[in-house]
Amino acid sequence: MRWCSPYLPLLLLVLLLSLLTLLVGGATDSGFRICAYNVQKFNMEKASNRRVMHTLTRILSRCDISLLQEVMDPDGKAIKSLLSSLNRYDDYTYQSVSSKSLGNSPSDMQQYVFIYRNNTVNVTGQHQYQKEQSFLREPFAVQFQSKKTAIKNFILVPLHTDPRKAVQEIDRLYDVFEEVSKKWKNMNVMFLGDFHASCAYLTRPDKKNIRLFTNSKFSWLIGDKVDTTVSDETNCAYDRIVVYGKDFLKAISPFSTKVFNFAKEFKLTKTKALELSDHLPVEVKLKSSAPLLQTTPLLILLSVSVIVQSFLSAL
Ligand SMILES: *[C@@H]1O[C@H](CO)[C@@H](O)[C@H](O)[C@H]1NC(C)=O
Ligand SMILES: *[C@@H]1O[C@H](CO)[C@@H](O)[C@H](O)[C@H]1NC(C)=O
Repeated sequence: MRWCSPYLPLLLLVLLLSLLTLLVGGATDSGFRICAYNVQKFNMEKASNRRVMHTLTRILSRCDISLLQEVMDPDGKAIKSLLSSLNRYDDYTYQSVSSKSLGNSPSDMQQYVFIYRNNTVNVTGQHQYQKEQSFLREPFAVQFQSKKTAIKNFILVPLHTDPRKAVQEIDRLYDVFEEVSKKWKNMNVMFLGDFHASCAYLTRPDKKNIRLFTNSKFSWLIGDKVDTTVSDETNCAYDRIVVYGKDFLKAISPFSTKVFNFAKEFKLTKTKALELSDHLPVEVKLKSSAPLLQTTPLLILLSVSVIVQSFLSAL
């Protein structure tokens, strides 16, 4: 039989292997997850509630990087306790980097805190935006590097707006973008957090005054119709994720941006969910850099076509 070329067994093996990696890749939770969560007044009192801490640990342990907002922990004890809970929970080692307390009223000073797995990502820079009078809580930008992601180097810019000034503050993220992208010579910038970008605080006509909307290079990954609140009474897309540029957009797993409704996922009542926060976490996945997984569909296509060809030529 002429079509039974010596390469056929080899090709079949490649095909089988590719199918296997595809299956394994699809079954395991691959990709690199970035999450943002307004944990409403996260202080030592909240960190002392074991039920709250257990749920929070389950939520954050899904993410390679989590941005927490509304952290009120100037001495760092609550975050320390959260880290030790996370580090007991799974095989990753979690670390954190925090901004100073930001705000203009002593009773409402808040920190931005990034929690990340040191096994999958490195922090390569931090920058506190400082222009006065532009934000209630000025963004604390952090640059990350991860060989596990297709994008490799990227900057996260957090924002928890003053709701009454949401439109102006979101617009000024453009100035922060210019500053940090110049500082680190890196245009891979993602903005995330509770922008209050919905309902009474941001309406459709406001968009023309926001450069992150008028400049089409910015992609809003969480849409206007999404509900990022826990309560049934509110239906507002307050929490958002925005990226700059084609490179970043291409490095994001399609359809991976979503609200993580942990109440539903963990079968908790709304009342229990509200013990953590009135917000839900939002998240996005970055494509992984694993070359095998990315070339797998191509390999399958190639080997199938070669097999079919050798089969046809034998007829
Ligand atoms: C992560 O941090 C832990 C504790 O600080 C350290 O022992 C470990 O070597 C670090 N791992 C990596 C990959 O950097
Ligand atoms: C973090 O940086 C170290 C030292 O440069 C490097 O060996 C490691 O691979 C980096 N980790 C990731 C996940 O990129």
